[in-house]
Amino acid sequence: MIIERSMNDDFLSNTYVVADEPGGHAVMIDAGGPVEPLLDFLRRGQFALTHVLLTHRHHDHVSQVDQVLDRYPGTPVLIHELERSSVPAATGSMSPGERIVTGALEIEPIHTPGHTAGMLSLLVNGTDVFTGDTLFKGSVGGVHAPGSTGFEDIKSSIMDKLLKLPPGTHIHPGHTDPTTVAAELEHNRFVRIWRGLDPEGNEPCTALGEPATLVLFGEDYDGGHKAWVRWPDGSDDIVPGSRVQRGGLLGRRGSSRHRGFPGDRRRGRTRVRGLR
Ligand SMILES: [Fe+2]
Repeated sequence: MIIERSMNDDFLSNTYVVADEPGGHAVMIDAGGPVEPLLDFLRRGQFALTHVLLTHRHHDHVSQVDQVLDRYPGTPVLIHELERSSVPAATGSMSPGERIVTGALEIEPIHTPGHTAGMLSLLVNGTDVFTGDTLFKGSVGGVHAPGSTGFEDIKSSIMDKLLKLPPGTHIHPGHTDPTTVAAELEHNRFVRIWRGLDPEGNEPCTALGEPATLVLFGEDYDGGHKAWVRWPDGSDDIVPGSRVQRGGLLGRRGSSRHRGFPGDRRRGRTRVRGLR
């Protein structure tokens, strides 16, 4: 299997080309771009692009589908049915468990809701899984972007589906660096707490302007932070670290809304944070 990646400078989102062999069949996974280097890669390698497969509907993963279709008119663009109306360029849908076979590639969509309702992870040939915004190296997807379905969903998607794949499975996240199932089981701080290896934190904090308990202030894929918080009603949430003020109720209600934690180096990147 041949995998080529392009990462967007602004969003740090990945677009992938996956091919079976030189001169063979290829699919594109997400299209947040820049797609130009990947289109060149396809041309130089004389690959036949047979599908564009979208993990979910967010702008930073679909914004350059039209550029792909300009070069490869008529290519099927598939996404989960729940997300399809949000992506005008989509031409059809993929269903969890219904394999897509092209050349020597066999692609199994796995439903991993949480970040969005129709999020799909794509398992290719049983060895490589493309996880969209569900699981990152050392971090997890947020559950406050448009269409999110909440903490319990993303926890189940990660623990009961993705990390049940064989330990050697290669993980290709929707943002920044690759990892493996074994590495995330061992090193991902969210996963370590879910596995019972590390204790939960209990520091008072203000999150999204409301009082909460900070269970974990974890590193995120972009050098910033991602926070697991618990609300007074006992429900859990995952929010951008930039929206958390540590040390309890230090400010007036709402006054912390756009104030970042000092360690959150990229708190000004609101476009990125809004989509995670
Ligand atoms: Fe997203």
